[in-house]
Amino acid sequence: MVKKGIILAGGTATRLFPLTATTSKQLLPVYDRQMIFYPLNTLIKAGIRDILVIVSPEHSGQFLNLLGSIFKSYGVHLYFEVQKVPRGLAEAFILGENFIDNNSVALILGDNIFEDDFAKAVKSFKSGGQIFAKKVADPERLGVVKFDSQKRAVQIVEKPKEWISDYAVPGFYIYDKNVVAIAKKIKPSDRGEIEITAVNNEYLKNGKLKVGLIKGEWLDAGTFDSLLEAGYIVKTKKLYKNFHPLVDKAIADFNEELKGICKKKLF
Ligand code: G1P
Repeated sequence: MVKKGIILAGGTATRLFPLTATTSKQLLPVYDRQMIFYPLNTLIKAGIRDILVIVSPEHSGQFLNLLGSIFKSYGVHLYFEVQKVPRGLAEAFILGENFIDNNSVALILGDNIFEDDFAKAVKSFKSGGQIFAKKVADPERLGVVKFDSQKRAVQIVEKPKEWISDYAVPGFYIYDKNVVAIAKKIKPSDRGEIEITAVNNEYLKNGKLKVGLIKGEWLDAGTFDSLLEAGYIVKTKKLYKNFHPLVDKAIADFNEELKGICKKKLF
């Protein structure tokens, strides 16, 4: 059972300039709500109630305005940590060391939107690492996992230049407490990042990595096209109806509160 979750919502998202000159990518709208509500919902639906949100310094105030007290009546505890310079996904475990506090942890990327539910994996997790895979058309822009004929993972490569497999690794990962020490030992890659793929390879090398398949839509909203497409798919496939009632209620309460404040300002 995993009780703690981290949402990585830092970074400068230069591919989305000028949109991200004024706000964080994860605060941009995906149809009727900010992107960050999707990873939050995924963790909450999986049963996780202790959540660390890692944000960039420029946008920390905006995250606090939106999320600072939204879940206060719902038993969800949100913590914030500032990532001064984005140094790669695995830095989340170094920044989150005190929060993790020798527990297992789930990490979700702030721009990943999932239709699937991770509750089973989160509840049954015991030790090692658990990642997921999904067949995609463009594996060269993602982390990719190769399976042998017995469907066992044998190799994971970050953005492979030569094709190894069509199975990409989505931005939802579960690890035991050893992940902090593993992340600390990783050397930056050619693109200067502490890669999550290096963490996965360390667990794989030790025979401690499980790879499951995910179902349904998996969207990452990091470019103009994928952001627009994410909003469109959320609307047409009604993914906004996939929210845990707790999250829907918290957003509805927040909206009412905002309306109340606006009325007071007007009269
Ligand atoms: C990152 C990871 C990659 C993973 C992807 C999922 O890629 O490095 O392994 O498949 O997220 O969204 P990046 O967004 O850094 O290009």
